[in-house]
Amino acid sequence: TDVHHDKLSKKYYYGNVTPSLLMAVGSAVLGSLQFGYNTGVINAPQRSFYNETWLWRFSEPISHPALTALWSLTVAIFPVGGMIGSFSVGLFVNRFGRKNSMLGANVLAVLSAALMGLSQLASSFEMLIVGRFVVGVFCGLCTGFVPMYVEEISPTTLRGALGTLHQLGVVIGILLAQILGLEWLLGSLSLWPVLLSFTVLPALLQCVLLPFCPESPRYLLINCSQESEAHEVLVKLRGTENVAEDMQEMREESHRMQQETSVSILELLRTPAYKQPLMVAVMLQLSQQLSGINAVFYYSTGIFEKAGVSQPVYATIGTGVVNTAFTVVSLFVVERVGRRPLHLIGLMGMAVSAVFLTVAMALLVGSTLIAAIFSFVAFFEIGPGPIPWFIVAELFSQGPRPAAVAVAGFSNWSANFLVGICFQYIEQLCGPFVFIIFTVLLLAFFIFTYFKVPETKGRTFEEISAGFKRAGAGGADKYSASEEFNTLRGDDPDL
Ligand code: GLC
Repeated sequence: TDVHHDKLSKKYYYGNVTPSLLMAVGSAVLGSLQFGYNTGVINAPQRSFYNETWLWRFSEPISHPALTALWSLTVAIFPVGGMIGSFSVGLFVNRFGRKNSMLGANVLAVLSAALMGLSQLASSFEMLIVGRFVVGVFCGLCTGFVPMYVEEISPTTLRGALGTLHQLGVVIGILLAQILGLEWLLGSLSLWPVLLSFTVLPALLQCVLLPFCPESPRYLLINCSQESEAHEVLVKLRGTENVAEDMQEMREESHRMQQETSVSILELLRTPAYKQPLMVAVMLQLSQQLSGINAVFYYSTGIFEKAGVSQPVYATIGTGVVNTAFTVVSLFVVERVGRRPLHLIGLMGMAVSAVFLTVAMALLVGSTLIAAIFSFVAFFEIGPGPIPWFIVAELFSQGPRPAAVAVAGFSNWSANFLVGICFQYIEQLCGPFVFIIFTVLLLAFFIFTYFKVPETKGRTFEEISAGFKRAGAGGADKYSASEEFNTLRGDDPDL
């Protein structure tokens, strides 16, 4: 009947969200949660700890420049750790597998929680700084491991939606940190060590859950040639014995992999065939960070305060709520609308919001400022937030994937570091016009995305890299990758 047919095609379209798949993705994104939590958790009370410790050690109050320097170091060492962690992803994922890499990384989370949580007791801000660095390395690893694992275990038709769960983990982490960081909760002078060490809870939970999750079937088949294990895992993940198509697709990729086994970062950078997808991957990371999103997440309370918003801390929490809500929106539309349109809408919406933001900052209108920041954040989560993280794994096949994820992650964290360090200085220079810089960058990334970023929705990894190869053969100027994909879509009755 029609209804039956409809049900079938729906199932085909959405793939099968089995308990095993959900459990695996859910356990993995506990790592993403910690990335968000540690992004949002650092705030004021820890500053006075520096002062007290200094006083206790040297019997004099800390000087203003020394405090600023130590504080900036504490904040900025986190993305430095992230740069190192993300760049190292390739050292682990093929040697230990995707799942065990995630599992092992938790040692770092536990270590950092201990260092940060005990720093006050030991009167040592050095411990806090080292703890921030270690948790940064951990989060850098997570931003590579998690999207890679999720993309590799998801059915083609669900890769975008499940990939967005990584970002959902991040934004829930930020929101949790904002709420728990309220002064009357854990953000007080005495309780902040508890606040910082809470990152150990998702780490422990993940250690309990991950052993029950499957290894990536692509890793088992393509990297380890374990056909029957891969088959068994796929049957569980898909909830059906009928996995022949998936198996066939992986076998073909495996076959092709004979020529491009595991690709090192140097080889990735040198091979002409990877140039185009790598440029897309890196530019998308830059579009995410140079949009100025973390200028908002690191400094929003101060921005609200300057414009005379009466409860700046609650306005900041509002930002976190909007952030989470729109990630959920993206989750539900990404498989229907596609990556390209959402990224384009997000960038343009942010550019327009940044103009309003500038006007509101210049004229000091609190209500407009709140509206502008909310819309800036909402548009971010429609596309530029979730998409760059998971699309890298889609743009590359099994061989070059770990190296590509490492290079992309490194670019992301470097840009994150840059914005975090520079924003305050640029704001001193440009005053309220600081966001105009982001408007210009956002428009530039819009143009790049329009001309260069292909749609990856509903395509197998094979098809995506084949698309790049054909685009390359057609000459980069004549056919951009995106045109190639669009032509393909029109020509092929199956698509
Ligand atoms: C993305 C960014 C991260 C940012 C977050 C905000 O995950 O990578 O830097 O803080 O979105 O939601």
